[in-house]
Amino acid sequence: MINRRDFLRLTGAGTLGLLAGEMRFGETPARASSVDTFTPDLELALRAAPTEAAILPGAPSQVWSFTGDLIRGPAETLQPVPDSYLGPTIRVARGAKVRIHFTNDLPQESIVHWHGLHVPADMEGHPRDAIATGRRYTYEFEVRNRAGTYWYHPHPHGKTGLQVYAGLAGLFIVEDAAEERLALPRGEHDMALVLQDRLFNPDNQLVYLTHHMDRMTGFVGERALVNGRAAFRQTVAARPHRLRILNGSNARIYRLAWDDGRPLTVIGSDGGLIETPLERASVLLGPAERVELWVDFGEWGRGQEAVLVSKFIDLAAVSALPGMGMMGPRRGRMGASPMPNGAPHTLARFTVRGAAGRDPRLPDRLAPAEAFEMPESAAGLQVKRFDLAMNHMRGTINNRTFEMQGVAEEETVALDSSEIWEFVNRGGMPPLPHPIHVHGLQFKVLGRLGAPFSDVLDQGWKDTVLLMPGERVRLQMRFADYPGLFLYHCHNLEHEDMGMMRNYYVRGTQSI
Ligand code: C2O
Ligand code: CU
Ligand code: CU
Repeated sequence: MINRRDFLRLTGAGTLGLLAGEMRFGETPARASSVDTFTPDLELALRAAPTEAAILPGAPSQVWSFTGDLIRGPAETLQPVPDSYLGPTIRVARGAKVRIHFTNDLPQESIVHWHGLHVPADMEGHPRDAIATGRRYTYEFEVRNRAGTYWYHPHPHGKTGLQVYAGLAGLFIVEDAAEERLALPRGEHDMALVLQDRLFNPDNQLVYLTHHMDRMTGFVGERALVNGRAAFRQTVAARPHRLRILNGSNARIYRLAWDDGRPLTVIGSDGGLIETPLERASVLLGPAERVELWVDFGEWGRGQEAVLVSKFIDLAAVSALPGMGMMGPRRGRMGASPMPNGAPHTLARFTVRGAAGRDPRLPDRLAPAEAFEMPESAAGLQVKRFDLAMNHMRGTINNRTFEMQGVAEEETVALDSSEIWEFVNRGGMPPLPHPIHVHGLQFKVLGRLGAPFSDVLDQGWKDTVLLMPGERVRLQMRFADYPGLFLYHCHNLEHEDMGMMRNYYVRGTQSI
């Protein structure tokens, strides 16, 4: 277990390692085989290294951070997040061919995963591709996803929780022509909010995993950070905005709402815009999920404050559902925490300035009707079942934990086929929510059973779906384009690190 002292020590070691990891370009990429066939439109360097960030008043906090350098491509490709440990926002056009040189200057192994992107198996950031300190991994892929808000973060086995918590995460935004035609708010009116929670010691240093229960429940902090800033506040124009919201927390679940009870206008989810705007009193957002909102700050008067909050989520009641066992997720450190998972709190305050402007208008239709492109009819598909359970510090999927190369029979699928996977949260001791994420594709949520909350957002294309204890969810997915080994796992990062993760294998037409 990594305690606070170990974390600080690792951070210190990294400062030394940093001197050794100098980047060079123009040398042959690590994957020489693709050099002849792949001509990138965009080329960037991304480096993970220890640094410090001013998060709270007083001493800076030691963090780990991504920094980026544009080697080739439009200048807007890399957008640093001001005053933040977050990595630069990478903005690319659909269809772009991207080459990214990742350099690991952390004091431990790492690898970068492009969460939500449909890329080849060896470009995914699978833990078996993790590289040692000072090493480089070159990614080459074509961006085939539709426009949407994706993200990137490390994925070394057993260390993802620590590395993301230390600050390693960034947004990967894809744009396309279909979305551009809608003339949605852009520039400073297209805002991204990355929601995270952190625990600090009195010296402003990050603290991770202080209690053995923290791993089982997932780690929650005691302070809400938005875009890496505490007590997030921003001045906004009195006009429509697009808000792209990512739950970048290790384990915290948010129930988003405006504090004055005004409904949220939802326009997008994990894989981009949904068909038509939806009004919701609140939206439940599990770790790694995204939601996009339309908000006209002109509805608040000039000088007024629009406040985005997370409302109370009664996780203890969920855990007390019949057959869910006795011990709720509030035990352990969380019982004493001022901000346990599900506690209500303020996320962001927007102060409205200027005279109201109503343009642009919210389109009635955002995306084409969402037919699933598949040759087979859904009715004819077999349903595979995956049972999730957490018992005695062992998170399992169909009773198995992670094996680096291991794949079971039900985890093997054929290239170009579609399947329905049913995930069942069996509860356990204690019963816990599990946000399930499937790599390499965007799926459709066909339905859920036993839902204790009506404000989950299953619309649109998704890559992560939240399952409360006792719930079952059916996902429809298609395994297109790329054969090979991909991950699926619980995106509660402590659960993932404990092995609540498995491979699925896409069998190509030739056996590999
Ligand atoms: Cu966002 Cu496998 O992860
Ligand atoms: Cu992913
Ligand atoms: Cu989990």
